[in-house]
Amino acid sequence: MLRIETRKIDCVVGARPNFVKIAPILRAISKRRNLGARLIHTGQHYDATMNAVFFDELGIPNADINLEVGSGTGTEQTARIMLRLEPVLAAERPDLVLVVGDVNSTMATALVAAKLHIPIAHVEAGLRSFDRSMPEEINRLVTDRLATLLFVTERSAIDNLIKEGVDAGRIKFVGNVMIDSVHACLDRAVPARQTLREIGAGAAFLNAVSKIGFGYVTLHRPSNVDDPVRLKSAIEALGEVSQKIPLIFPIHPRTEAMIATAGVAELLGHARICTTPPLSYLRALGLMREAKLVITDSGGVQEETTALGVPCLTIRDNTERPATIDQGTNELVGTSATALISAVENILSTGGKRGRIPELWDGNTSVRIVDGICDYFSALGSRH
Ligand code: UD1
Repeated sequence: MLRIETRKIDCVVGARPNFVKIAPILRAISKRRNLGARLIHTGQHYDATMNAVFFDELGIPNADINLEVGSGTGTEQTARIMLRLEPVLAAERPDLVLVVGDVNSTMATALVAAKLHIPIAHVEAGLRSFDRSMPEEINRLVTDRLATLLFVTERSAIDNLIKEGVDAGRIKFVGNVMIDSVHACLDRAVPARQTLREIGAGAAFLNAVSKIGFGYVTLHRPSNVDDPVRLKSAIEALGEVSQKIPLIFPIHPRTEAMIATAGVAELLGHARICTTPPLSYLRALGLMREAKLVITDSGGVQEETTALGVPCLTIRDNTERPATIDQGTNELVGTSATALISAVENILSTGGKRGRIPELWDGNTSVRIVDGICDYFSALGSRH
């Protein structure tokens, strides 16, 4: 009887956006008889609202191993992941280590795998903001330098990698796996009205929402929240926007801590802004889908709004995801309050950018990723 050799893939995740990307990949791997996956969680994100609820809603199996590294500076976190991951990878020696996105867990894993001579697949390779003050840009550069297989979401990423000298044969244009999760979950997304009830939005807020609709806000980039002066001015700008449209603002733990440190919580209390602790994936998806506009500094939200056709204003000077601007509904407004307010006014009067769905953001990216992995293993096999 023909024996089919099972190739072992260690998938390593750590932070909230990783979970959204790994869910469809794990499902696609589980459908291949010749592939076996082990899920390793670094523990970068650990609060139930940042972690367990995503596993539940996205149907991700429990991690086989949790390294429980917790929070710290970028260097502390990276070092802890490396120290705890090395023996785990060394003991099992998988055929491939798969990482997604651009968080500290992604880069730390790539470093460990590379030092153990284990091939690396990077999903969401090649994105560049060309801004090395962002921790994610360093993570992207290092991970791509070390990766064997580079799966890219948009054509700009191919150009970036080629310019950096990556062999074109290792780059696979597969589309955006985050959008696979949007497709898989949209019919279970929680209606905005239900979420607003659950988070205790007041009667006046609900009344305004029923008349004008609402905007959805996320803010957590260190460049926007870690400097108290910058954070205060961002919150003041949101206060002004909320005079035009009520805002729903789930607050990331980093932002929550910085709001307390900067003493600006009072500013939020006065505005027509409904704040809440971080929301689950299905609640966030439901709010984004129904929002008149989204204001964000998140990478994933820029992509999800493009997929949903909802106007998005990004509070940054650059984006590593230019397809969301050239083709999608995203617009960079920088950090100026005036630019943000006039962009909001424009959306409220015109409906905002329509956009179109970027190439291969079709809900089938995970299948193309797994095909790419199988092709890689087949090519290795034929060389033996
Ligand atoms: C990380 C990623 C960022 C991603 C974001 C999504 C890096 C460099 N950054 O940023 O790219 O967009 O996740 O959320 O990897 N905290 C908690 N509970 C948790 C996790 C964090 O309270 O479960 C608090 C801690 O105080 C921690 C802070 O949030 O110090 C920041 O967490 P961290 O994982 O270091 O970075 P994020 O800002 O979440």
